[in-house]
Amino acid sequence: MHFKDDFLWGSASAAYQIEGGASQDGKGPSIWDSYSEIPGNTFKNSTGEVAIDFYNKFEEDIELMKEMGLNAYRFSVSWPRIMPDGQTINEKGIEFYHKVIDKLIECGVEPILTIYHWDLPQALQDKYAGWESREIINDFTQFCALLYKEYGKKIKYWVSLNEQNIFIGLGYIKKLHPPKVSNYQRFLNANHIASLANASAIKLFREMQIPGQIGPSFAYSPTYAKSEKPEDVIAMENAQEIDNFLWMDVYAKGEYPQIALKLLEKLGLSIDFQEGDKALLQAGICDFMGVNYYQSSTYCDPNHKQETLQAGNAAQVSVVSDVQTIPTDSLYARADNDYLTMTDWNWAIDPNGLRVSLRRIASRYGLPILISENGLGAFDTLTEDGKVHDDYRINFLKEHIIAIDQAIDDGCEVIGYCTWSFQDLFSWLNGYAKRYGFVYVDRDEENEKELRRYKKDSFYWYQKVIQSNGTEL
Ligand code: BG6
Repeated sequence: MHFKDDFLWGSASAAYQIEGGASQDGKGPSIWDSYSEIPGNTFKNSTGEVAIDFYNKFEEDIELMKEMGLNAYRFSVSWPRIMPDGQTINEKGIEFYHKVIDKLIECGVEPILTIYHWDLPQALQDKYAGWESREIINDFTQFCALLYKEYGKKIKYWVSLNEQNIFIGLGYIKKLHPPKVSNYQRFLNANHIASLANASAIKLFREMQIPGQIGPSFAYSPTYAKSEKPEDVIAMENAQEIDNFLWMDVYAKGEYPQIALKLLEKLGLSIDFQEGDKALLQAGICDFMGVNYYQSSTYCDPNHKQETLQAGNAAQVSVVSDVQTIPTDSLYARADNDYLTMTDWNWAIDPNGLRVSLRRIASRYGLPILISENGLGAFDTLTEDGKVHDDYRINFLKEHIIAIDQAIDDGCEVIGYCTWSFQDLFSWLNGYAKRYGFVYVDRDEENEKELRRYKKDSFYWYQKVIQSNGTEL
């Protein structure tokens, strides 16, 4: 195995998905609090109002991390907990994260802080339409300034925006996230503003000379061509430009990819570039690329697309969006990959895809990579004696760790691996049915029960992986 001694064996989560305490100690509402209150927006109308109550149980939860020997924990701070209206400081919110960070450090777990994992203060959505207004760049930067000042001496790894491609894509194209819009030009506008905000956060990080590293977490799905047919290869490359390079080039090089821009222009779409934007993007280049990897994506010529597509139809229990077509559908179409099996939610299982991802990113950007999420969402069963035999999760993670090892041997620099997730938590689209954790949390959509925690078989397995630095799989 090729893992360095300081390799971070971690796990990840996000505030809205675990904390609960939706209005405790002065927290303001986020767009997810409001959105999930509207019937039909989430699976079985589930919400993160209580989630798994990490807000009140964080000490007990971090003790579990210590017992496992986890050496890194990626969590996000809730902007409306720290600034209820997006601008005014709530001391209790600041204090909460100091306590979480201190407890992690005391337990030997390196805290990795995600600045934004989708829970925008509702007040900023109401005030100026959130990510659609350039006003957010300043507010977000002020929020970051506060975080750097408060936690800058304790945190070595910072994640700026989590999956900008997903929260903007699902919010402004697919109507699966707030504000539930489907308009490709508005998507590009909001996305450009988010890219500027991300760059501004990184620029400030440098100016304040924060002694750590910062980068975004990008939801990366490597593109495959359905066949060797040249038209399929072009479709695959189009998808790569529009779905990947459009973000990663901005993060790593401070500029948009020229082919993607031209493809968009031909569709009558454009980026709203204003004076100063170029300089800001270039001042906001990341230290590492955070990669959230779940699956690869296969593409074919959109003029000959298969009728039997499964990939992307996120299974039995997903919220269904009513979006029919998007402009880029003329450039590439999703296709099944006949060589891959699927999860309970029809996500393709593809450990080699992680190796491909790491190699492509290392090769195009030459940056270190933090795998900031990877995991298997499954239906787990709690046995009568309080066990969860999740050998399927162990196999999934094992194969992905082997792929990482191979990628390191191929020449990629990988800082660490954060599984998604440490505990079961709220899934934005799938409520509590889709479980990812090493720790089972006993609740469902309808009933919070007592939120008891149970260690799954995978808990003990990952414990050994960490102890052996990846040699005992
Ligand atoms: C990532 C997000 O997209 O995938 C997480 O950063 C999310 O917040 C995870 O929970 C898994 O997605 P899902 O839809 O299966 O919960």
